Amino acid sequence: MKVIAFNGSPRKNFSTALLLRKALEGAEATGAETELVNLYDIDFKGCVSCFLCKVRNGKTYGRCAHRDGILPYLEKAAEADAVIIGSPVYLGRVSGETASFLERLVFPFISYADYRTLAPRKSATAMIYAMNVTEPEKNEYEYDTHFRLNESFMKRTFGSCETLCSFNTLQGTEKDYERFELRGTIEEKMQYRSEHFDSDLRKAFELGGRLCRV
Ligand SMILES: Cc1cc2nc3c(=O)[nH]c(=O)nc-3n(C[C@H](O)[C@H](O)[C@H](O)COP(=O)(O)O)c2cc1C
Repeated sequence: MKVIAFNGSPRKNFSTALLLRKALEGAEATGAETELVNLYDIDFKGCVSCFLCKVRNGKTYGRCAHRDGILPYLEKAAEADAVIIGSPVYLGRVSGETASFLERLVFPFISYADYRTLAPRKSATAMIYAMNVTEPEKNEYEYDTHFRLNESFMKRTFGSCETLCSFNTLQGTEKDYERFELRGTIEEKMQYRSEHFDSDLRKAFELGGRLCRV
């Protein structure tokens, strides 16, 4: 069993990365082999619209042909039993690198003839989001529209997808908040973190294990 996770946050030790690592721990607990890839370490672009993945009988039909740093990871993701993509929410959506990665991962596998999937195999997938807003604010700002769209593309391409959200995350350390603008007090922010983040990590651990049992 191989599980690959992609961190779409520029930060390697904040909420998104911690949730992804927990999900991979959950996968490892079932005996899976895991890998965590930090997208911001890789030199790559979003889809360049070459359409070489859509050329009938072409050498790269159904596969991304744009040779840059992400190409080997697209191949790894396509072969994995499970794929987990984590992203901070930036302006109500995934981060730029995550959006670029999703374009490169998903678009080559969509047939333009009938939108059927060209992915070589079914895989269990999940999207994990870390965001500053609370859950009621997430609903008010309709972030679910974007999350549902990502989930539906992943599901259509790979066969299944689930979504996990972590709310009211930390933007810095407790010390940073002495300098940062903040709604409410540092104590409130820290209290929310101490009351909720462990539970989010537990959910991520369970998700990682669940993906290996699909
Ligand atoms: C450029 C930028 C845009 C952001 N936009 C939003 C947003 O629209 N909604 C939100 O809830 N949080 C927003 N945030 C906060 C991040 O989603 C939040 O801090 C998240 O936990 C970051 O993940 P990380 O800690 O793993 O890097 C934004 C942060 C940045 C840097």
